[in-house]
Amino acid sequence: MGGITIKKLRKKKDKGEKITMVSTYDYLSARLCQEAGIDSILVGDSLGMVFQGLDSTISVTLEEMIYHAKAVRRGAPDLFLVVDMPFLSYQVSAEEALRNCGRVLKETGAQAVKLEGGEEIADTVYRLVRAGIPVVGHVGFTPQYINLFGAPKVVGKSYEEAQRVKKDFKALENAGVQMIVLESIPWTLAKELTDSSEVITIGIGAGKYCDGQVLVFHDLVGLYEDSKPKFVRRYAEGAKIFKDALIRYKKDVEGGNFPSEEESYGA
Ligand code: KIV
Repeated sequence: MGGITIKKLRKKKDKGEKITMVSTYDYLSARLCQEAGIDSILVGDSLGMVFQGLDSTISVTLEEMIYHAKAVRRGAPDLFLVVDMPFLSYQVSAEEALRNCGRVLKETGAQAVKLEGGEEIADTVYRLVRAGIPVVGHVGFTPQYINLFGAPKVVGKSYEEAQRVKKDFKALENAGVQMIVLESIPWTLAKELTDSSEVITIGIGAGKYCDGQVLVFHDLVGLYEDSKPKFVRRYAEGAKIFKDALIRYKKDVEGGNFPSEEESYGA
């Protein structure tokens, strides 16, 4: 099959074929994604909440992102791999962004890094792209701005907000990104952006007219029960299945029914 590249994803957009992306953080789930024929994995900084049990993505570090991305790459060597740059790893200066994003590509085998923000990071994005670092943008609701804008919400319902999202999108497009994640924006706005641009759009809470969709692995298999936004569809009840297995295991051990003779080594 060969590895999935941005060129292959672009062809999909051009042919009107939808792109599938999953956000995940470990070797096994990445392997499942590859076996299921998913196109792309994002190692999202949502690992702060989903993997580490934190309240937000703010304290996730660059070292942690690199650690998880390496594991994911081992599980999914052929998928288009994008790694989230954590809070404050690219905002301080273009030089620091170059160094940190470059490290992610060199050490993890990722094909692109994802940065949150629009106009305010466009100059940095331009420098990154010029240095050979492919960048995925992220506009609409941007979790790293939680301390400024508060809890998750739909962005772009008012005229002013929609104009802001459009400006951010355009700034990133002009800076050279080839893909942009649209998070929690009205589907009408997502459609307008998708139809009017060569940039590949990946939606999460942005309706069905984006070029592709992304969901967090633990949300889509029903493992993460702490929250369930409107845009999440659970394709399995993972938490219930695993809890039930654990309860049966406990019962078997306590009742002397595990391990059996077949599950034990003889002398
Ligand atoms: O961190 C993440 O998983 C993300 C996706 C939800 C887009 O940014």
